[in-house]
Amino acid sequence: MKRLRKLRTNETMRKLVRETKLQISELVYPIFVIEGENIKNPIPSMPGIHQYSIDRLEEELERITERGIGSILIFGIPEHKDEVGSGAYQEDGITQRAIRFIKENYPKLLVIADVCLCEYTSHGHCGLVRNGKILNDETLPLLAQASVSLARAGADIIAPSDMMDGRIQAIREALDANGFIDIVIMAYSAKYSSAYYSPFREAAHSAPGFGDRKTYQMDYANGREAILEVEADLEEGADMVMVKPALAYLDVIKEVSQTFDSPVAAYNVSGEYSMVKAAAANGWIDEKKIVLENLTAIKRAGARIIITYHALDVAGWLKEEE
Ligand code: PBG
Ligand code: ZN
Repeated sequence: MKRLRKLRTNETMRKLVRETKLQISELVYPIFVIEGENIKNPIPSMPGIHQYSIDRLEEELERITERGIGSILIFGIPEHKDEVGSGAYQEDGITQRAIRFIKENYPKLLVIADVCLCEYTSHGHCGLVRNGKILNDETLPLLAQASVSLARAGADIIAPSDMMDGRIQAIREALDANGFIDIVIMAYSAKYSSAYYSPFREAAHSAPGFGDRKTYQMDYANGREAILEVEADLEEGADMVMVKPALAYLDVIKEVSQTFDSPVAAYNVSGEYSMVKAAAANGWIDEKKIVLENLTAIKRAGARIIITYHALDVAGWLKEEE
């Protein structure tokens, strides 16, 4: 008989042989910055998460740095939307101003800027729309322009989440042409069309006004296709790739991380967060245990970076254990 239980006899022994350990340094915390003054809006479907106006952001940034979190992913919510998503690429857009504020006051915090049009377009789609169709090539220069303006504002990493073809190349060329050769691109490469995004769309006011995102985001039935998406993004110049959502896509995280050597990020999205929070609030599960199990599973599958709304809590728990 093989006595495999020998290595499980006590916690010290288990820790000694543990294959996967979460670290605060690999967590990314998403934040929502909204136009206006003196705003701290709770998002009902995401307990614990708020929209902040820039003048109230300090309290959140203070908590983030105090917990030892080094990276944030920033989403801007503009006051005005239009057909072409102008707010996404204005030099004084909400996200650009928020990044300037963060970089002035917390220069060491690594700022990842989500690049997309959906928060800024009146129709809520991630690209330009004509006759009910989402246009690919016409959208690319706008994404490139948005990326350059975010880099100019001080973003360290540009993270396009739109899923248009060819966007990484368009963005890389524009960044380089404007002297931003050191700016990193984290591509939302394998981004699935998912029902897990709905709390986020409430938080970021970015639900599509008609139809769905199935002509650009991936079909969740497809695993092999993720390899093609990642391959294309890496060829076009992505430095890091992402799989999104995370928990229902651990097979994809594993496949991508074993096929490519670039860092793989996993986005533990809003719906995954909300389900845990709702069950925990009912006393049906132990929040801390479930969250640590979930995130460890994401890392075990091969993610080197985990983007999660649980990051603040997790950082607190990991610190306690030190
Ligand atoms: C915008 C964007 C979305 C998310 C990140 N960037 C929503 C969407 O594609 O509809 C989802 C994040 C989450 O659910 O936490 N393109
Ligand atoms: Zn979008």
